[in-house]
Amino acid sequence: MARVPFIAGNWKLNHGPKAAAALAMGLRDSLANRGDATLAVFPTALSIPAVLPILEGTGIHVGVQEINASQHGAFTGTNSAEMARELGCTYALIGHSERRQLFGETDADVRVKIDAAREAGLLPMVCIGETLQEREAGRVEEVVFRQLSAAFEGIEADVAATITIAYEPVWAIGTGVTATPAQAQEVHAKLRGWLATHYPAFVAEQTRILYGGSVKPDNAAELMSCPDIDGALVGGASLKAADFAGIVAGAVA
Ligand code: 13P
Repeated sequence: MARVPFIAGNWKLNHGPKAAAALAMGLRDSLANRGDATLAVFPTALSIPAVLPILEGTGIHVGVQEINASQHGAFTGTNSAEMARELGCTYALIGHSERRQLFGETDADVRVKIDAAREAGLLPMVCIGETLQEREAGRVEEVVFRQLSAAFEGIEADVAATITIAYEPVWAIGTGVTATPAQAQEVHAKLRGWLATHYPAFVAEQTRILYGGSVKPDNAAELMSCPDIDGALVGGASLKAADFAGIVAGAVA
């Protein structure tokens, strides 16, 4: 079954409301209403209100980079999935390696945040990936399967099929060192295989598994021509409309 390519931009802690609005206008002008790809951007939470009205009606979805396990309460400094949904967000990024490494998010946190996203009506995009040390120790499969098992623990098939997986090897994030298409495809095939052994066939067939880590316009097409790579989660290159559009062009080529 052909899966529609999914290209998402993770703006991380970049672009305040003014710059984010300008970038959103650029995306609207170059990428509005494409039937051949699913598109989403994850601005910093403070810039989401500036971006949403610009992207409304363009088919370019907006997501929140971080959600708390709770929808409200005494949790200073975090985001509520319910409030993000109220604003107009569609997706929640969960378990990005920067959240895991810099803010101590665990596999168990990822699992409960998937519930929080779903309760609020947000679609989860779950990030997994090994560090360089883990790769060099031959532990890639062990690490990504552990992350995947924890994230999908007790999740029913129809819900599992609504989750997007982003494989982002930590050593490729922001380093300019992209995984080779063969390296990425090898892991993506294993991830899809994991879904196929744990769920009815339709889950592995439908689930989009995105690659992230130094994706650029000039390497996107080759990566996305691999059978199990269904799109990209883009950091640095998503901060310029022309680069993001170039990656989308490569993905649908
Ligand atoms: P870069 O594309 O800047 O390597 O970032 C990848 C990433 O972390 C996206 O979530």
